[in-house]
Amino acid sequence: MIAAADPKQARIVADFPILAKPTSRGKRLVYLDSAASSQKPRVVIDALVHYYENDNANIHRGVYELAARATEQFEAARAKVARFVNAAHTEEIVWTRNTTEAINLVSFSWGLANLGPGDAILTTQLEHHSNLVPWQLLAAKTGAVLRFIPADANGVLVLDELDDLLDGVKLVAMTHVSNTIGSIAPLATIVPRAHAAGAVVLVDAAQSVPHMPVDVQALDVDFLAASGHKMCGPTGIGFLYGKRALLDAMPPFLTGGDMIKRVSYETTSFNELPWKFEAGTSNIADAIALGTAVDYLSAVGMDWIRAHELVLTSYALERLRTLEARGLAVYGPPRAEDRAGVISFNLGDIHAHDLASILDVEGVCVRAGHHCTMPLMEKMGWPATARASFYLYNTEEDVDALVAGLEKAADVFRLA
Ligand code: ALA
Repeated sequence: MIAAADPKQARIVADFPILAKPTSRGKRLVYLDSAASSQKPRVVIDALVHYYENDNANIHRGVYELAARATEQFEAARAKVARFVNAAHTEEIVWTRNTTEAINLVSFSWGLANLGPGDAILTTQLEHHSNLVPWQLLAAKTGAVLRFIPADANGVLVLDELDDLLDGVKLVAMTHVSNTIGSIAPLATIVPRAHAAGAVVLVDAAQSVPHMPVDVQALDVDFLAASGHKMCGPTGIGFLYGKRALLDAMPPFLTGGDMIKRVSYETTSFNELPWKFEAGTSNIADAIALGTAVDYLSAVGMDWIRAHELVLTSYALERLRTLEARGLAVYGPPRAEDRAGVISFNLGDIHAHDLASILDVEGVCVRAGHHCTMPLMEKMGWPATARASFYLYNTEEDVDALVAGLEKAADVFRLA
């Protein structure tokens, strides 16, 4: 059903020019690192070139036709992203460089204005450094304390003590999908309980928005952050969703041009949402191309993408099991349904970097290392893992290539 020969699958694979280019060793490119950054379909690449060749001008400033066209496309892309995550209002989408910048925006703006000594921030043991370091620094600046929802040995959050952990919490900042082991957090359980405890909820959706339908109103999250480059869009563009009332009440993060209403030598009043948070010339072309990426993903269908990745993940877990006798350890929730298309593993005592290098010779791209989750790795006792991650353009043949590469590695290292 999801073999490369399937007509829909074949069309999707053909949409991504890089996948047709063999590696320098003449191998088929098997790209299994979309959790780090996705490949780009032709339409997104074309949107960038089209913008620079036809519509390039600064936005929100010029009165001439070209500038109006650039502004219109830039704002239309924002509306597309708002619809994609079902924001109630387009101005609830603020452009940022990436998820990290979106989280920092909340930390510096909302956090410094709302937290003080004795307040608590609740996060989880699964977090990417991007959703941990900003809160560590905020806690140090404000006198707030940082608490963690624990994860079990499979990377599943343990909610037994949630009510105690939520006592005195002003902010819950947590990932939707673990970038290291792919476990999906039970937001439907946690968000209402966080709100009942009086906390605001921020979700790091870098690994969920590209891969499954995400509806900010249904989830009832207060802030949500995501990156364009993981969802078929360009690098350097991402977004923060925030409920309008919260964003309205927040002070600006970065300051300068475009985020102002009126400036005198003495004082400044600030622009309306969302521009209050967009100082300086924005990443115009990349925002527009992210709008194209969102159109592309919507046309394929987010339900289809989630179902596709679920089938691939089940297939991969089953195929990888055949290597257990040779020392393969797979981490994360045992059931494919409980995870996104992310599989971390180790093979015997081969270092994850060596494993990734052997796979690279075969044309198979996986990430190896700590995956920007050093505390989680330390808690689990993994010095490093190799990680395969799937997207809409991957097929069962890609999984077979991964398994064949691992068998080769086991042979090279003479594992049983
Ligand atoms: N956060 C990205 C990853 O997990 C870079 O690989």
